Amino acid sequence: MAKQSYYITTPIYYPNSNLHLGNTYTTIIADVLKRYKKLQGFDAYMITGTDEHGQKIMETAKKAGKTPKEYVDKIVDETKDLWKKLDIKYDTFVRSTDKDHELNVQHVFEKLYNKGDIYKGTYKGYYCTPDETFWTEKELDENGNCPMCGRPVHYEEEETYFFRLSKYADKLKQYYKDHPEFLEPHFRQTEMLNNFIDKGLTDLSVTRTSFDWGVDVPFDSKHVVYVWIDALTCYLSAIGYEFDDEKFNKYWPASVHLIGKDIVRFHAIIWPALLMALDMPLPKKIFAHGWILFENDKMSKSKGNIMYPEPLIKLYGIDAIKYFVLREFNFGSDGNFSSRKYLERYNSDLVNDLGNLVSRTTSMIEKYNGGIIENTNVNDEIDNSLKSLAHETYDKFIEQMDSFKFNEALETVWTLIRRANKYVDETEPWILGRDEKIERLNTVLYNLAETLRIVSQLIEPVMENTTKEILQKLGFENKGLKSASEFGILPNGLKVSKGKNLFDRLDVDKELEILHKENNELIKQRTIKEENKENKKEEFSKDEISYEDFDKLDLVLGKVLDCYEHPDADKLLVFKIDIGEKEPRTIISGIKKWYSKDDLIGKNVVVVKNLAPRKMRGIESKGMILSAESKDGDLSVISSLKELGAGSKIS
Ligand code: MSP
Repeated sequence: MAKQSYYITTPIYYPNSNLHLGNTYTTIIADVLKRYKKLQGFDAYMITGTDEHGQKIMETAKKAGKTPKEYVDKIVDETKDLWKKLDIKYDTFVRSTDKDHELNVQHVFEKLYNKGDIYKGTYKGYYCTPDETFWTEKELDENGNCPMCGRPVHYEEEETYFFRLSKYADKLKQYYKDHPEFLEPHFRQTEMLNNFIDKGLTDLSVTRTSFDWGVDVPFDSKHVVYVWIDALTCYLSAIGYEFDDEKFNKYWPASVHLIGKDIVRFHAIIWPALLMALDMPLPKKIFAHGWILFENDKMSKSKGNIMYPEPLIKLYGIDAIKYFVLREFNFGSDGNFSSRKYLERYNSDLVNDLGNLVSRTTSMIEKYNGGIIENTNVNDEIDNSLKSLAHETYDKFIEQMDSFKFNEALETVWTLIRRANKYVDETEPWILGRDEKIERLNTVLYNLAETLRIVSQLIEPVMENTTKEILQKLGFENKGLKSASEFGILPNGLKVSKGKNLFDRLDVDKELEILHKENNELIKQRTIKEENKENKKEEFSKDEISYEDFDKLDLVLGKVLDCYEHPDADKLLVFKIDIGEKEPRTIISGIKKWYSKDDLIGKNVVVVKNLAPRKMRGIESKGMILSAESKDGDLSVISSLKELGAGSKIS
């Protein structure tokens, strides 16, 4: 019988050459899930990839003095390298610049257009370039910035194609109702309904004309397709959409899209609506995990609070990093990374619990029975509690893994490990040895070896190397995950070898220093690399412009008549400025961090007079005050050296 397929996706990452531990979270989980599903007998397929188009990448590449393709190629190599170091077993690495994928994006776009679900119009609103996201005015945060990242947005008016997202609001609502398992954890559904769907969905702008690093709209090459449609379609391209029907039909719909909590809206609203419009089945599940924080804060290089996976891999191995990430964090919620916790868990769970059980069991078998496993069946009441826990462990582990409770699943295995260690203390094999009760002793040792075998099979999806090592020490073959449901599989006569320790105890304080040194070194190296890029950025910072371009700017001197704090925004000041017109202009500026409301009254400032008006938190700003910002973040409004009068032209 053909195996049942199980298709897992990670997000399609923006090219990033410095992926930190948080960035690797989804991929580590996806890898473990794939291994687990394979061990369960599924035809599991896992994909990851890179989301390479868009304005942000085009601009970053330009600043680095490279073409976008050159820029992303290098990062893709670095990313693949990191996945190799973490032994991530993906099946396809999809790139949004792959030719077949680009054709797919065009195909999808055309299909939706022909169906009438995409139409041409004009977009008016705000765009956040770093997040590649459009916002309406009412969606902006209290400072008039992007509600997702808090960075400035810019007003745009451009011809665009719209996707009729509004048409799918009711269908989505119904779908959520009929498929409570579709979006997990469940509170994310409430979030999507309250924050977006119930508020009313507006049609989505799905093309851009202001840059060209993207997939051309097939019938209108002035437009490129919006990055999110491009990126989401990667989930289809990665399994042969339009190019390999057999493969595609085998794996679609996806069993699970694993994503971070910040991109739920795209996956739980836009993506299902697009698929509904394409008359395609929806993924069976979207699971949104929390973020790995660093001391309760977002990991960020500028704050220096980043943990990179490389030092952890180098110092403590792949198995430990995967174990920690799965064991420490609750998959649906935010979690805090701490190096001390990492090292302490290494000592307590890996050295004390698992390592200790392995070394005591194998060394006692060597010492008391010449290294030979022998079940003499001299049973005791006390054995039953270990055996019945071993039996329960398998079912519980499977149930927890199947419901994405990875931390609980590992805790279940560790409960068995700790029970087995206690069994050693209870049965006191050294006394049995001293009293020459060798038959009972061998039964005890057999039970311990068998528990270890079960443990080794259960942890295989997470700690493949450790599984191999334990089985090697027991002299036994890998019988698969299912074999962990039975107690008593080890045959008599196996030759055990203690060998070296699985995990060596760490001196936490000493290791903290070593780990931080390695990690800080990497932060330093990567910051220097970024700074070199930044320096280049200055050389390349802006395109050369013609005199005609410059002449389009209408710059004048203005006198500040009045200033007050914006009633609905923390960072904004509202100015009344005389620029030689009948009425003073209202101009809003985000300089409250550097000036209080009275500082600039009576001062001459430089005003951009012909900037398109923009409403900021309910007040319309007509123009802009120019200022200079130093590298260390200080700011000064630009003024004139002489009193020339309001409205004086600047050229
Ligand atoms: N390109 C989009 C995804 C398109 S999917 C069709 C994108 N890329 S990303 O590179 O910015 O983010 C990739 C993933 O990394 C997201 O799921 C995000 O939640 C995750 N993480 C980034 N920082 C993280 C932590 N500190 N902790 C856990 N996950 C984090 O979004």
